[in-house]
Amino acid sequence: MAGTGLLFALFVLAHMYGNLKLLVSEQAYNTYAEHLRTFGVPMLPNSGLLWILRAVLIVALIVHVYAAVTLWARASGARSVRYAVKKAVAQSASSKTMRWGGVFILVFLVWHLLEFTIVKIDVSGKGATGNNPYRLVVDSFQTPWLTLIYVLAMLALYMHLAHGVFSAQQTLGWTSSARTYRQAQIIGHVVAGIVVLGFLIPPLAILVGLVK
Ligand code: HEM
Repeated sequence: MAGTGLLFALFVLAHMYGNLKLLVSEQAYNTYAEHLRTFGVPMLPNSGLLWILRAVLIVALIVHVYAAVTLWARASGARSVRYAVKKAVAQSASSKTMRWGGVFILVFLVWHLLEFTIVKIDVSGKGATGNNPYRLVVDSFQTPWLTLIYVLAMLALYMHLAHGVFSAQQTLGWTSSARTYRQAQIIGHVVAGIVVLGFLIPPLAILVGLVK
């Protein structure tokens, strides 16, 4: 969980940085989108590096979800008979948030990939296509309900990342003292804050008309 989780944290940081090009200009963003596909050419075929990255992410996602389900089953299924009295402890609250937040992020991801990568859905109905990635993204986020979905998904991502980054440090044995434990919690919130704020800037800037 920790290894694949940290890989995802790196991915979302890089993805968030790339999205900020939407604030620069239409040309800057479209050149970046094109670059993702031509990177490494002619050593690699067109989109070669992108497919390597996709393969790594898909394998990591399978491992991450498998580990989550195994932990979930171990935590709840170890007893064939439920506890008669179950104490609500802080740890079970955060693991519940991780589980249901994780499921929500997964559902969001399916929609997100259909919308911008696999189908390229014209949610605004203005006729944007995948030929102009900038227009597709900007027209989409001019649609308030879509931006709302992203804001909710980013809230879920914040909670998941803040706890996940902390948890990963705990798994790696970096939280042996009260000071390092607190430090790991702060690092979790800082990483999650940077990623989520950076992700939210382009959609919100588009919604209020700062980016057109
Ligand atoms: C406000 C937040 C986000 C925005 C505006 C955004 C935007 C985009 C856009 C425009 C693309 C298509 C890029 C292209 O093909 O040129 C894309 C692809 C993608 N996004 Fe996001 N994204 C956001 C959040 C996320 C999050 C939180 C995740 C992961 C949990 C994610 C995972 C992906 C993945 C896996 C791809 C596919 C890359 C590929 O294989 O081509 N995105 N995103």
